[in-house]
Amino acid sequence: DSDAWHEQERRFREGWEHRRDVASLSRRQLPCVDPNRAAHFMNQPDSDWTQYQTREQLDEAIANWTPALPPPAADLDAALDCAVAAAERWSAESVLQRAEILHHAGQVMQQRRFESIAEMQRTCKKAIAEADAEVSEAIDFARYYAEHYPHYPEVVGKPLGVVVITPPWNFPYAIPCGGVLAALMAGNAVLLKPAPESTDIAWLLVQQLWDAGVPRDVLQFYPCADGETGKRLITDPRVNAVVLTGAYQTARMFQSWRPSLHLFAETSGKNALVITAQADRELAVKDLVRSAFGHAGQKCSAASLAIIEAEVYDDPIFQRQLHDTAASLMVGPATDRTSVVTPVIREPESSLMRALTQLDAGESWLLKPKVSAEDPCLWSPGIRLGVKPGSWFHKTECFGPVLGLMRAENLEQAIAWQNDVDYGLTAGIHTLDESEQVRWRDSVQAGNLYINRPTTGAIVQRQPFGGWKKSSIGPGSKAGGPNYVSLFARWSDASVDV
Ligand code: SER
Repeated sequence: DSDAWHEQERRFREGWEHRRDVASLSRRQLPCVDPNRAAHFMNQPDSDWTQYQTREQLDEAIANWTPALPPPAADLDAALDCAVAAAERWSAESVLQRAEILHHAGQVMQQRRFESIAEMQRTCKKAIAEADAEVSEAIDFARYYAEHYPHYPEVVGKPLGVVVITPPWNFPYAIPCGGVLAALMAGNAVLLKPAPESTDIAWLLVQQLWDAGVPRDVLQFYPCADGETGKRLITDPRVNAVVLTGAYQTARMFQSWRPSLHLFAETSGKNALVITAQADRELAVKDLVRSAFGHAGQKCSAASLAIIEAEVYDDPIFQRQLHDTAASLMVGPATDRTSVVTPVIREPESSLMRALTQLDAGESWLLKPKVSAEDPCLWSPGIRLGVKPGSWFHKTECFGPVLGLMRAENLEQAIAWQNDVDYGLTAGIHTLDESEQVRWRDSVQAGNLYINRPTTGAIVQRQPFGGWKKSSIGPGSKAGGPNYVSLFARWSDASVDV
């Protein structure tokens, strides 16, 4: 009835007011609920855009930004010979010397934050807030890996040698930075082979790391002009390990090229957020919208499914809130500071186009996605109702601004559907009931589990990032966690009997 409706509206608005205050603090500055984890490490805060000077500095950086064009790739043999020699020298440096350079890298990245944002906005169409968070994460990687790599004299880590880092375009700064710095910290030489879409931002990162003191032969920039050179690079025996963040099929292709390859791969995801009848519904709407439509859904961590308990799913007020919140997101070019949903990286190809335009039996649009008349890459958010278990949308990663809703009878059914996908990267639940949280946590099959928060935006040390099932190939240690740098070394315990 109308009184109940107005009361819900009032609570909804109050909730938003309250949360806006909390949201104005960077999530990195909020107290960590796990005291063991937060004790020694403070995450780098994001920029405070409420400050006029900060906005002005960014505008100035964007206006004055002249990107440096990356050099053409060097000869592969020469690059690899150089890397082998550099690895020998770099591994002989002390752990503390390498850590000092990483610390310095963190400082340089902070000083040059706005040029990095300008470049990410230019090349990868990243919304400013998303690009800003990447810089914070990259700085966290530098400081965390520098501080947490063990340097006990009786434990000897021997670096692997030469490591190739092949990052994705969707996190064009933080992900290459994390891989490069972990391998460097353990004493390896690195070749960074950027994704073709984000070569320029990777080149900027490399220059920043060189300026921070990483020797140019220890970190080489190696954009591959063609697939053939890429294959030669991955299969060359002078390469001791490869780090890939990309599609599962790419990882399998690398393995087929070189079965003995030491490969650490973070691959695809099909992630869901469960909302039970015990959820704070307004908070769930906010976190779901953020998880589904941040960076236009182009995150391996994005929630492209919400599995919602019937009582909430059937509630017209919930549906309206979800519709209105998604519809209110500013859709526009990355150059516009107010844009939240920016264009997808390229014109949607088959599976994303299908997700944006085609409904399956029993499905309907809660919010129909629309393409901009000016830009075929700019799509407004879409929300499909009635996604059925086992259907195409339940199982397929789409990497775009589309969310599907499934109606579950109870938590057990929701968990079963959440697990019934090939991947296991992120998973979320919204419930205030602790027993539900525990039941869910103990049975869900994914690497990163989030309770009452979005499924994206893992924070270094607090939420080391990495998946299960087809989302990960290799030893499965998580980026931004305590064991990650150790992956890049072989370990001996040196003890002397007396
Ligand atoms: N680490 C990113 C996130 O958590 C994904 O790569 O969203």
